[in-house]
Amino acid sequence: DTFDLLVVNGLVVTASDTANYDIAIKDGKIALLAPPGLLSAKNAARVIDAEGGYVMPGGVDCHVHLEEPALFGGKGRSSDTFETGTRSSICGGTTTIVAFAPQAKTMPSLLSVLDDTQARAQGNCYTDYSFHMLVGHPGEQALSEFPKLRERGISSLKIYMTYTALQLRDDEILDVLLASRKEGITTMIHAENGDVLNWMTKKLEERQLYAPKYHATSRPQIVENEATSRAIALAELMDAPILVVHVSSPGAAAHLRDAQTRGLPVYAETCPQYLYLTRDHLDKPNFEGAKCVCSPPPRDSAADHDAIWLGLTNGTFTVLSSDHCPFMFEDHETGKKSVISQEFPEGRFKAIPNGCPGIETRLALTLSANRLSPQKFVEVTSTNAARLYGLYPQKGTILPGVSDADLNIWYPPGKLAPFKLTNDMLHHNVDYTPFEGVELNQWPRYTILRGQVVWDRDNGGLLAKKGCGQFLHRGKSTLPGPRKQGDWDVSAF
Ligand code: URP
Ligand code: ZN
Ligand code: ZN
Ligand code: ZN
Repeated sequence: DTFDLLVVNGLVVTASDTANYDIAIKDGKIALLAPPGLLSAKNAARVIDAEGGYVMPGGVDCHVHLEEPALFGGKGRSSDTFETGTRSSICGGTTTIVAFAPQAKTMPSLLSVLDDTQARAQGNCYTDYSFHMLVGHPGEQALSEFPKLRERGISSLKIYMTYTALQLRDDEILDVLLASRKEGITTMIHAENGDVLNWMTKKLEERQLYAPKYHATSRPQIVENEATSRAIALAELMDAPILVVHVSSPGAAAHLRDAQTRGLPVYAETCPQYLYLTRDHLDKPNFEGAKCVCSPPPRDSAADHDAIWLGLTNGTFTVLSSDHCPFMFEDHETGKKSVISQEFPEGRFKAIPNGCPGIETRLALTLSANRLSPQKFVEVTSTNAARLYGLYPQKGTILPGVSDADLNIWYPPGKLAPFKLTNDMLHHNVDYTPFEGVELNQWPRYTILRGQVVWDRDNGGLLAKKGCGQFLHRGKSTLPGPRKQGDWDVSAF
């Protein structure tokens, strides 16, 4: 056969175009796109009829926590391994993930952490994968290893302005930004003022306010807005590109938009939890509010959600990621959400590890909301992530002869009856979804990874084998980088 697979009768959507094309796949790559009817089924080993449904590049989720130790408050590892997390990912149409290689404050070396994380992932993934370095201790040794990171195909890292185990001072942030800029590394920043939210947490506990809803009280929007503004200022000083992760507040989005308007290489990310959840989700009987505890917290109202949707539409947000960071709600041995003790029989919000699962639901939730154009949806859930993290155009688009054949084929209009999401539909290793009961009208019907059908929702579900995912050696971001102008000439340092 000339081709391994044809996908015919699809409405092909990329970040730039929407049109009816048939797609031919050969040796795991997109071979060509042709107007309907030109490609003959006789020349292909297999044909999939999309029946008029959207055909889109596979999802790229560059904010995923797998097998991480207790760094985000509370105790216990994040409950998904590379195996279970990427299994969940592929069943929701995300064919590429970038997870974290976490360096704690006690560890001097980045490369040993990277080795360790790579060994965990190797042979266990259902998706293609890479890592961001999570830098908890930017000492002399760690900073000297930045060039080696690039040689190893790692072109991004994440730092924190909160969490006792990870929080950096402003001078440490400057160290990281300067070293990153020199090596062409993109710095992701978790922007919340850790000192302020710790102080507020202490005051709430003094008043014996322990319920999950006080997690939101301890982290009002200004805590995020101030840190976001400070992160932008530090990045501007160093002329270093940053991505502010998991932005939840309209005020923070406004700071980011302003920086972008001034031409700074400042990028932003949001997540479905900031489009679907409010602080009311934290106020439930039996400590159930712990299921929606993440940082920043779900915000106050639908007006906040509207501002975040608008930011996706107008380009303030470059990417929509999951921030998949799952912890078991019930498990009392490891990673339990509610830390029950004799002293705190009702649990206390301070002891809840921060983070929610969402790797499998990200695409269906966002597309089902019908608030983004199909092209914008592809841009923020796939294409821009590939650009920002040095994977484009191998990932994130459908460029003949160049792109991997990673595709989602969605249901054509009218084919899938709307349904309510329940946790038992999902493939993660978590005993809940924060989006339980949300009505969906879409789900990937077929998912294809490098030409292999890895998910066929109506015929067998998950078809991939563990280990089919490959490590991705990443290059530099292809979005605009340092401006190389201004008084502060960092090339002198
Ligand atoms: O609450 C959150 N976001 N947990 C995941 C860790 C992080 O900061 O991204
Ligand atoms: Zn040290
Ligand atoms: Zn974070
Ligand atoms: Zn995260």
